[in-house]
Amino acid sequence: MSELKPSNILYYGGDGPADLACLQNKLVAHYKAQGYALLRQQSGADKSVYDYLSQKLSARFVSYKNGVHLDRSQYSSTQSTLNRADYPVPLHGELFYTPSPPRMLWFYCEAYGEGVGGETLLTDGVAVYHALPGELVKRFDQQPICYRRDTSAGSIKDDESVLEHTCSAVTSYDGEPAFVNSLLLAYETEVMRRKYPGFMRELGVRWASGRKFERSDIRAIKRVIEPLTVTIAWQPGDILLVDNYRFMHGRNRYLGNESTDQRRLLTALAEPAF
Ligand SMILES: [Fe+2]
Repeated sequence: MSELKPSNILYYGGDGPADLACLQNKLVAHYKAQGYALLRQQSGADKSVYDYLSQKLSARFVSYKNGVHLDRSQYSSTQSTLNRADYPVPLHGELFYTPSPPRMLWFYCEAYGEGVGGETLLTDGVAVYHALPGELVKRFDQQPICYRRDTSAGSIKDDESVLEHTCSAVTSYDGEPAFVNSLLLAYETEVMRRKYPGFMRELGVRWASGRKFERSDIRAIKRVIEPLTVTIAWQPGDILLVDNYRFMHGRNRYLGNESTDQRRLLTALAEPAF
């Protein structure tokens, strides 16, 4: 795991509204070249820059209503945030356990506090696919996986609240195979729910045949993913745009003093307008 290099960041001095159109083009160029784009505002956090770019570059926003994270505040129909940052979020493609995952993810850092950790993680699914052991890739190429999630928020369950979604763990990015999915998130949900109760709905994953995943397969995936993952140490005003079909994302646990520290990231799911 390594920190994102400054050369991969787009810096913005905040020279006024006239520059925003130019900034929009630069952001798209970074996004297309890297599969993500991080814009760092150097003259203070200005949320209107985020509002401008996210509106201009999104054809439509997608709701998170089918997601498994319960600990989420909705700021508007399109923007939400996880309320607590003191638990980790395993790497995942957003909503890949549903039939239509969104193409793009927006993040805006409103506040970061003075705590430790809380970095967002990004992992290139194309690189992971090529680095996975050949035998494992073959199995993922040949066999779909099946997610099973409970859509009810509380303990009341009925058959209609449990949904299954079967798909490949390998997606296509620009014609190239990419290992982008919610496998690790789903595999670890049970443990997460025990350790951090009340934050997540039930979510499980198996091979489509019904067979459970071997621990050794999960370990092999994690071994490959670790060195390919970059971390983003947020600064207030940072804007991140991620191609959800190429990069998986996650979060390190943030440890702060809750009376003074506040890590607040707005997120939105969208389809591109470019
Ligand atoms: Fe996510």
